[in-house]
Amino acid sequence: MAEKTIFITGGASGIGLGIAQYLAQQGHYIIIADLQMKAAADAAESLVAKGFKVRAVELDVSDPAQIEKLPNAILPDRVDVLINSAGVQHVSKLESFPAEKWQLLINIMLVGPALLAKAFLPQMRSNNYGRIINIGSLHSLVASPYKSAYVAAKHGLLGFAKTLALETGDVDVTVNTICPAYVKTQLVEQQIAAQAIENGISEEEVIEHIMLEPMPKKSFIEMDELAHSAAFLISHAARNITAQTLVIDGGWTAR
Ligand SMILES: NC(=O)c1ccc[n+]([C@@H]2O[C@H](COP(=O)([O-])OP(=O)(O)OC[C@H]3O[C@@H](n4cnc5c(N)ncnc54)[C@H](O)[C@@H]3O)[C@@H](O)[C@H]2O)c1
Repeated sequence: MAEKTIFITGGASGIGLGIAQYLAQQGHYIIIADLQMKAAADAAESLVAKGFKVRAVELDVSDPAQIEKLPNAILPDRVDVLINSAGVQHVSKLESFPAEKWQLLINIMLVGPALLAKAFLPQMRSNNYGRIINIGSLHSLVASPYKSAYVAAKHGLLGFAKTLALETGDVDVTVNTICPAYVKTQLVEQQIAAQAIENGISEEEVIEHIMLEPMPKKSFIEMDELAHSAAFLISHAARNITAQTLVIDGGWTAR
């Protein structure tokens, strides 16, 4: 496949970083965008040292003003593929969920992806090629208690992706959402302790009963599953796959 310029939010850690590493190895030019500039720069540096083409950019996806300036700020680079992976979690009953935190989760995981797509779509249209991949979640399809903002944002992403897919049917642009069950990243490690407190159980019980028991395959999703899925969605072979939800949940949502 011809080299593409791939902009990955949250690319300094976890799923975003795993996808960045794999797609860099596939010969693409990767722009790692993250709130944590040092982590983004370190990740880019270690990939460049291996001979890959990677650049780091500081970005707060919850800031519409930064997003609006982005296409000009990163010139001469033009984005072919946008991967929205930046995300945070907050585990709390709605009654004690801070209002600003609720708003922040929606801004990072729903409004940010929409505004980023808006910012890069003109370039994609003019190239007659574009791929927008949102990292949704199992929680785009089902709910869990104490995650109201996260579940609302992730459900919202599916509606957003379907709508934008309808609006981009006239060009080779696709919009899809990859929805994994639990992946062992920083985001999940942090929430194991929070879930234990909210549910009044031990951390081992959180892993066993909350994260793995409802899943027929009973395993964490691994990075190669996500990276290969993203690689397929950006390929020419996936040009008619749009508005879709690729669920990697070990059978969780079959029940
Ligand atoms: N880990 C899982 O089990 C899991 C499962 C399903 C979906 N997801 C989703 O995958 C995505 C990545 O999560 P992860 O597990 O890799 O987490 P992670 O914590 O390892 O990485 C998240 C990255 O997003 C960045 N980020 C946070 N707020 C930001 C902001 N305002 N602007 C820019 N960057 C910001 C962080 O700095 C971090 O580098 C998230 O959208 C998450 O909801 C994760």
